Amino acid sequence: MSVRQKNIVLIGFMGVGKTTIGELVAKKLYRTFIDVDKEIEKDFGMTIPEIFEKHGEPFFRDYEKKKTCALAEEKLKVLSIGGGAFVQPEIRQACLDNCVVFYLDMAWEEWKERLDMLIDSRPVLQTRDITEIEELFYKRQDAYSINHSTLTISNRSAEEVADFIV
Ligand code: S3P
Repeated sequence: MSVRQKNIVLIGFMGVGKTTIGELVAKKLYRTFIDVDKEIEKDFGMTIPEIFEKHGEPFFRDYEKKKTCALAEEKLKVLSIGGGAFVQPEIRQACLDNCVVFYLDMAWEEWKERLDMLIDSRPVLQTRDITEIEELFYKRQDAYSINHSTLTISNRSAEEVADFIV
C-alpha cells in the first residue's frame, strides 16, 4: 500500500488531544475521522465508564483489540485510538503494519493540570492515586515510543500540531 493511502493513527496518553488534533488533520486532508472509543461506545450503546462498570476492564481490552485492529486495516482514515490501546501487542502490530503512527507526547507537568477535567470519563484514572497515575504515565511512554514518529506537543496549539502532521 502506498504511504499516501495509509491511515494516520494518533496515539498518546488520555486527554492529550488525540481527538481534537485528529479531527483537524482529517478536515485538512479531506479524510474521515474515526475516534475508536466513540465507535466502541456506539457498538454497546454505553459510555466507556459504563462498559468498564458492567463488563470489567479485561472485557473492554478484548473488544478494544478486535475493534482497533479491524479499523487499523482500513485506508485513508484518520484514527484516534484509546490511550491504553497501543500497549496491546496485537494493536501495536496492526497499526505499525497498516498505518502512519504519530505519538502525541506531552510533559507530565502539563498533563497533570488536566486530571480534574478527565477523571469522570476515564475509569483507569479513578482507581489510582496521583503517584500511581504518574507511574502509569511514564510506563505508557515506553510503549508509545516504539517505532514511529514522536511529536512533542507541550506548549503547541492543536492547529500547529495538526499542520505538522499534514
Ligand atoms: C484508556 C483511555 C481512554 C479509553 C479508556 C481507557 C486508557 O481513551 O480508551 O478509558 O487505558 O488509557 P482516551 O485515551 O481517548 O482517553
